[in-house]
Amino acid sequence: MPKPRVSVIGTGYLGATHAVCMTELGFEVIGLDLDPTKIAKLAAGEVPFFEPGLGELLRKSLDTGRLRFTSSWAEVAEFADVHFVCVGTPQKKGEYAADLSFVEAAFGTLAPLLRPGALVVGKSTVPTGTAEWMADLVQALAPEPDAVEVAWNPEFLREGFAVEDTLHPDRLVFGVRSAAAEARLREVYAPVIEAGSPVVVTDFATAELVKVAANSFLATKISFINAMAEVWPGLGFGGGCLPKDIRAFMARAGELGADQALAFLKDVDAINMRRRARTVDLGRELLDGSFHGARVGVWGAAFKPNSDDIRDSPALDVAESMQQHGADVVVYDPAAMDNARILYPQLFYAASALDAARGADLVLLLTEWSEFREMDPRVLGNVVRTRRIVDGRNALDPVAWRASGWTYRALGRP
Ligand SMILES: NC(=O)c1ccc[n+]([C@@H]2O[C@H](COP(=O)([O-])OP(=O)(O)OC[C@H]3O[C@@H](n4cnc5c(N)ncnc54)[C@H](O)[C@@H]3O)[C@@H](O)[C@H]2O)c1
Repeated sequence: MPKPRVSVIGTGYLGATHAVCMTELGFEVIGLDLDPTKIAKLAAGEVPFFEPGLGELLRKSLDTGRLRFTSSWAEVAEFADVHFVCVGTPQKKGEYAADLSFVEAAFGTLAPLLRPGALVVGKSTVPTGTAEWMADLVQALAPEPDAVEVAWNPEFLREGFAVEDTLHPDRLVFGVRSAAAEARLREVYAPVIEAGSPVVVTDFATAELVKVAANSFLATKISFINAMAEVWPGLGFGGGCLPKDIRAFMARAGELGADQALAFLKDVDAINMRRRARTVDLGRELLDGSFHGARVGVWGAAFKPNSDDIRDSPALDVAESMQQHGADVVVYDPAAMDNARILYPQLFYAASALDAARGADLVLLLTEWSEFREMDPRVLGNVVRTRRIVDGRNALDPVAWRASGWTYRALGRP
């Protein structure tokens, strides 16, 4: 079967690189751009922007006779089986939204000229819903709507590594609506797939979202490390525990006039504290809405297992909160009892895990000591008043506990 012939519409950073690399991979390629200067330069073997290695590969590709550039839409439509749309999607002036007018113009100009069997593949980075919109547009304008298709194939190349990233991408994402479109894309990317790049086949919206999610995550990582540098270059997290460190960090940022840089750590802290409140809420739910008069057994006092450190311990925070709401809370911890008694004299303490749970209406596992993880749910079931447990550390096997008649709840689980 002959190889599909490829067009690239929009020959900027993304498109010029894609056109050259597709030629390198053995395809016949035609590139089109609205900018005649760009087309003239590329046709003359000159890359109109800086990208290491692309110039040499462009000239090599032109020499094969399999790459050419044009300003003629008719020529492109006649030539290619697969069209890659690589036009820009800049930010709209005065707004956060993307300007999709270039994408709309490219699909809209090409559609009435499409040959039957053509696949139009968007590569531009677009907001979710754009691919569906472009598919509708192509359906409305194509001479034979049933014989043409749209797909979305977002691009992850990094400028500066564009050639390498295009020839050896970390992954290929195919947003498609049919097996035929997927098969076509697999043909066009056959050498890349054979070289080991994984393929993710998905729907339009997911393909669009994968790209913006990946960029948002990257931006977050970069902002995170930049915020560190903004406050105090070279500062690394020291010893001690996280809650106090992030709070002190925010305070110091304020003193240095850089408080906005670390505003997001308030959220990091608040998210963490909400887990404690949520654990208390789970307990209350299991007790049908009230802690009043309930006997509650708490396993764990240390802030983590294999320690007797109770500073800012979530376990004791939760235990104290339930006590304040009217429960009789009995705590057991393998190592932190002495410290806990000093700081939380209002709580009750037991000599063993089973003793803490004896007669309880509710048990909470709040520090994941192995002694608690290994507890036999049937043995514990014989000492409690009611078999209800909140697993605050996702340390127990819900199936085994439920099978033994326990009402089991854990954070982040149904
Ligand atoms: N540059 C990157 O590193 C990169 C990486 C991944 C994805 N992307 C995405 O790829 C898309 C293109 O980015 P870029 O950096 O190559 O932009 P660019 O501005 O360098 O290139 C866009 C090209 O499209 C041309 N164009 C505009 N409207 C056209 C039309 N109707 N018909 C034909 N050509 C038209 C422009 O003349 C220009 O040459 C964007 O959506 C971008 O977000 C870019």
